[in-house]
Amino acid sequence: MDLDAFRWLLTDEGQALLARATELAASDDELHVQAELRRTAPPAAVAAALTQVELRVRARAKFGDLAARLYFTPDALEQATRQSVATHRAGRFQAFGAHTMIDLGCGIGGDLIAASRAGLVCAGVDLDPVRVAIAEANLAALGLPGAVQVADATTVHHEGFDLAFADPARRTGAGRSFKVDDWTPSWTWVEELLRRDACVKVAPGIPHALVPPSVEAEWVSDGGEVKEAALWSGRTATTDRRATVIGPGGLASLTDEDDPGPDAVGVGEVGDFLYEPDGAVIRAGLVTAVAAGVEGRLIDAKIAYVTSDRAFHSPFARGYRVVEHLPYREKQLKAALRERGIGRLTIKKRGVDVAPDALRKRLALAGDEEATLVLTRVGDHGAALLVAPF
Ligand SMILES: C[S@@+](CC[C@H](N)C(=O)[O-])C[C@H]1O[C@@H](n2cnc3c(N)ncnc32)[C@H](O)[C@@H]1O
Repeated sequence: MDLDAFRWLLTDEGQALLARATELAASDDELHVQAELRRTAPPAAVAAALTQVELRVRARAKFGDLAARLYFTPDALEQATRQSVATHRAGRFQAFGAHTMIDLGCGIGGDLIAASRAGLVCAGVDLDPVRVAIAEANLAALGLPGAVQVADATTVHHEGFDLAFADPARRTGAGRSFKVDDWTPSWTWVEELLRRDACVKVAPGIPHALVPPSVEAEWVSDGGEVKEAALWSGRTATTDRRATVIGPGGLASLTDEDDPGPDAVGVGEVGDFLYEPDGAVIRAGLVTAVAAGVEGRLIDAKIAYVTSDRAFHSPFARGYRVVEHLPYREKQLKAALRERGIGRLTIKKRGVDVAPDALRKRLALAGDEEATLVLTRVGDHGAALLVAPF
């Protein structure tokens, strides 16, 4: 969508078309909707309206009910921060005492919206004029104040703002590895920005060694999935490493101050309970903090499973009761599962080279029972644990 097409969508005529497209799309198939809309508007306008309708549906996963009032492009929606995470971040901005913030590369405004909703006076810049127009329209659609303009973040004077935020774009898209050369604006610019009170969103794969001294690294998960890491610098840094877990019951945070370290928790026998730490905890290197929290130990110094003789409910780990130790060798394991009538099996694995789907096929399961199997390593042995979530 080009800038003119987007601007037209904001006119009375464009808004009427968008409203009609939304209404029709909810109850009719695509071809009929297109034919109907083309009776009153040119094809390019119809395409622009229908794209927004479709993107608003897709955006619900990130923006919830707000999505129906916002505008997107496919790529900018993909890159936008989900509101649960952006709202948490904005809460930290507020707790830090910031009144003003600048978003250096604001896209369609995922973070800008959350900060403005939290009551900060916000400014945003982006190189892309369409995204700037969308961010501006998004703030207006929600009745939020904020100024957005086209500018290069690397040349903007941000000193006057209490806080600077950046969410650099990744040239190569999402990936597991973290490449310093992938960022725009560049990693060098990010390092420079981190000399002031700032927050920079980065990929969760950022190696700990790359986090500059005195900068806090926070890994955030939502619904059990790690979404991002954020680097907090200057006076916004409150610890070295933090795992923030957003779940149905709200938000919880674990930091390196909760971590007594590996020597204090030790490694030991699998007890009555097994805990699978949240991905944010693992990325933050705080598995031993979870072990301490459940009065437990590691089952292996290098594996992110925790065991304990006590049952705890923790937002930082999923807990399982260890029902039985089964044979690790495939033939005997298959027989053991058959004997127990297990026909549906969730396979979890850590520290062992197993392809769960292929293994499940080979196990030729049969029976009415359902179970969870954990395949892992204890010392130099493989272990197969039948577990039940509690
Ligand atoms: C990952 S997106 C930001 C998404 C945003 N935080 C949100 O939640 O919607 C990164 C943005 O940075 C912008 N960008 C990249 N380099 C820039 C630069 N040098 N100056 C300004 N904006 C830049 C891109 O156009 C892109 O919109």
